[in-house]
Amino acid sequence: MRCLLIVSILAGIVGSVSGHRAPVTARKSLGFGPTIPHAVYRSIPRQNHVNEFMPQSSNLDPFEVARQFIDDIIGPDQVQSSYKIRSDSYTDPSTGVTHVYVRQLLHGIEVADGNMNINIKDGKILSYGNSFFAGKPPSLVAKSDSRTLPHPHREYCEDLKAELDNHLGVLASIQNEQAPMGSDKITELPPSMSHLAHLHTSNCQFHGLADEMASKRPQALEDVGDMRPALLEFMVAATPKSEVVNEILGKYDEHLGRMTISTVSHLTSEGEQAFHVDNAPDTVNPVKASIAYVQVPSEDGSVELVPVWKFEVEMENNWYEAAVSAFAPHRIISVVDWASDAPIPPPEAPKEPATYNVFAWGINDPSDGNRTLEKENFDSLASPIGWHTLPFANDPSYKGVKPSDEFYRNTSTTFGNNVFAQENWEGQNAYLYNYRPDAGSSSVYDYQYKPKASESDEAMDVAQSYINATVTQLFYTSNMIHDLYYRYGFTEVAGNFQQYNFGRGGREGDAVIANAQDGSGFNNANFMTPPDGSNGRMRMYLWNTANPYRDGDFEAGIVIHEYSHGLSTRLTGGPMNSGCLGWGESGGMGEGWGDFLATTIRSTANYSDYPMGAWAANRPRGIRNYPYSLNETVNPSTYQTLDKPGYWGVHAIGEVWAQILWLVSQALIEKHGFSETLYPPLPLENGTIPTNDFYRPAVGKKPLVPKHGNTLSVQLVINGMKLQPCQPSFFDARDAIILADEELTGGENFCTLWKAFSLRGLGTDANVQGRTPWGGGIRTNGFATPATCN
Ligand SMILES: *[C@@H]1O[C@H](CO)[C@@H](O)[C@H](O)[C@H]1NC(C)=O
Ligand SMILES: *[C@@H]1O[C@H](CO)[C@@H](O)[C@H](O)[C@H]1NC(C)=O
Ligand SMILES: *[C@@H]1O[C@H](CO)[C@@H](O)[C@H](O)[C@H]1NC(C)=O
Ligand SMILES: *[C@@H]1O[C@H](CO)[C@@H](O)[C@H](O)[C@H]1NC(C)=O
Ligand SMILES: *[C@@H]1O[C@H](CO)[C@@H](O)[C@H](O)[C@H]1NC(C)=O
Ligand SMILES: *[C@@H]1O[C@H](CO)[C@@H](O)[C@H](O)[C@H]1NC(C)=O
Repeated sequence: MRCLLIVSILAGIVGSVSGHRAPVTARKSLGFGPTIPHAVYRSIPRQNHVNEFMPQSSNLDPFEVARQFIDDIIGPDQVQSSYKIRSDSYTDPSTGVTHVYVRQLLHGIEVADGNMNINIKDGKILSYGNSFFAGKPPSLVAKSDSRTLPHPHREYCEDLKAELDNHLGVLASIQNEQAPMGSDKITELPPSMSHLAHLHTSNCQFHGLADEMASKRPQALEDVGDMRPALLEFMVAATPKSEVVNEILGKYDEHLGRMTISTVSHLTSEGEQAFHVDNAPDTVNPVKASIAYVQVPSEDGSVELVPVWKFEVEMENNWYEAAVSAFAPHRIISVVDWASDAPIPPPEAPKEPATYNVFAWGINDPSDGNRTLEKENFDSLASPIGWHTLPFANDPSYKGVKPSDEFYRNTSTTFGNNVFAQENWEGQNAYLYNYRPDAGSSSVYDYQYKPKASESDEAMDVAQSYINATVTQLFYTSNMIHDLYYRYGFTEVAGNFQQYNFGRGGREGDAVIANAQDGSGFNNANFMTPPDGSNGRMRMYLWNTANPYRDGDFEAGIVIHEYSHGLSTRLTGGPMNSGCLGWGESGGMGEGWGDFLATTIRSTANYSDYPMGAWAANRPRGIRNYPYSLNETVNPSTYQTLDKPGYWGVHAIGEVWAQILWLVSQALIEKHGFSETLYPPLPLENGTIPTNDFYRPAVGKKPLVPKHGNTLSVQLVINGMKLQPCQPSFFDARDAIILADEELTGGENFCTLWKAFSLRGLGTDANVQGRTPWGGGIRTNGFATPATCN
């Protein structure tokens, strides 16, 4: 009771702070789940190299090496345990490393969080992550006792509330010191606290629902083979709409009856046995459902396997992967939102190449330079057919009959193989036939952008008047990012975003849907990353932080940050696993990589500090707590900062990670210099990539190594994503970057990297006690480096 009261007051204050501005809606997003205590990542280059693993023979097939290694780990006793090597495993031509992704099976059923990622080169295992369940498999038929059934949703909410109460206590004591008795001085909440309050109100209202429903509904009606009750109860917790909640709870049986199940049969054994559920309330596509186990630690430290329904639920503003216990009570065990937000800032704050009038690559936002006419300088390796062409067969918008002698279709709009960019004022999910500028046969996308101050009721009209320019910009920036990341190894096999993959592997049919001026929100942006083969979706918003409004599409840093969610999600844990960066430290790094890459892309040879999102938010220090800086006074973040109040959210955690990476890249720049361009040279006619001054001289068949500090750090960060395990910690991600350097340069930056990581407490002696999934725990900074570096 007390808690509810407090929270509603907080929400009230938050509302009033926004004052005269249009309401800023915080998207509702669930995200929690257990951490697996026995998950390990082994990669300690040089110190304790993982080469103790047999077998070691450079001519063995890497998948055979993986199989022998897994059999060795599972051991002969675990008869019920088996595994499958996922088909999104790949050998990366840019590094020669084979990334093998393995999913555990028990009784033939997937253990949804039983993952191994094994990185192999020349028959040697470089590193591996392992979160396989190692205990005694449960009987298939025995139903867990609901009293002992784990309840991560409740634990998450209890931790959240304790954190809120803690904040509130601090605030009250400040008030007592400063304010005369009886006067009410709270006028503004610290942003970290309104964030917590928002999480609590939006995510915790229904954590008791499953138990309530189970006690109301006779057990006889429950059938483990019917996923609908579990799904319906999940929808109550997931929907942001109170009228949908009332509708479901008021007409429970009617909704249950309306939902229809169809089975999806696959030709090969590749796809898991899956169902589609139609007519689930508040969804925009049929829900995919499959049965699985998940691992949940109990209080005594043991780990239990819980049979669950695994759902993929596509909603207007969320795209969830959720695990809900299959037996009643249908508690939510874990949930990842494949959609990632930029933060809500505090309210105060091959034919003829086409030509675009845009803020050129490198200009972060309109305060940074003027628009110029830029060519479609697509990269012939990354985008062999340019940005405005795609096969008829892979074009979801093409309605006519395909001309029999043509394979490719040329478009004259912002619609191509990598990106579909369009207006989305309605904020709906449909995008195919939304408005796009059409350059006709000229291929020149040159449109007006002359925003001017206006009365507030005309602000939208002003923004909409330059829609041609803003969609053009979003298309241009997104394609530039596609091409850049491609050249650093975000290729088809690694799970990149393209409608057509040119026979180069991976799953196609997944260009990025990029919505400009999306009507579903203000002052934000987000990106949804489903597994490889389904379109990523980027939604860019207007910012009502100034008059005239500012349009996020014009701030490259925001577009790069969003696109980078797609990069890190597809690379971590493999292209087909989008559940590896859901919450806590790994979710935080998902934000941090985007900030780091956006900042690196805008940086120049002359060092400067940089804030994130400063132009759109109309706030010089940007939307984070601090600008990224070499100066400890300007940005004091350290590893231990994660323990501070207010560091619960993924954005605050990510900011610490991005700051650490910024120092790492500056150390590499100091050592190796700075390249004016991040784009590698184009391949020659015969396919050879010239090294120019960009790469080090080529050595045999070894991968090309960027020569300068800024290009090398982008390469190490991206290669590190491929090497790290599912749900990485800061330590895992650091180790993966150091391993990436070992692989690429023979470890010549080993000490440079360790020293840079240790600057902000991520040295060899850094440690964490009692880490909770959402970022809690007690951390100690470690400033030590390996003995060989002293
Ligand atoms: C697309 O453009 C290319 C290059 O101009 C041309 O060769 C091709 O015929 C065009 N395709 C169609 C279907 O018009
Ligand atoms: C843009 O161009 C105008 C002149 O046309 C100039 O006054 C202004 O400083 C330029 N803005 C930036 C950010 O370079
Ligand atoms: C956008 O450009 C088209 C031509 O491609 C033009 O007809 C239209 O008026 C422009 N829209 C706005 C809002 O300026
Ligand atoms: C960097 O600074 C130098 C000296 O102040 C200046 O000549 C140069 O133009 C600057 N370069 C860039 C990219 O800003
Ligand atoms: C760091 O920033 C502070 C505050 O802006 C400033 O006073 C100090 O001189 C800076 N230190 C260095 C080494 O630049
Ligand atoms: C490709 O062409 C370049 C320049 O003409 C030449 O130096 C190189 O040896 C060629 N590579 C191959 C593999 O033929």
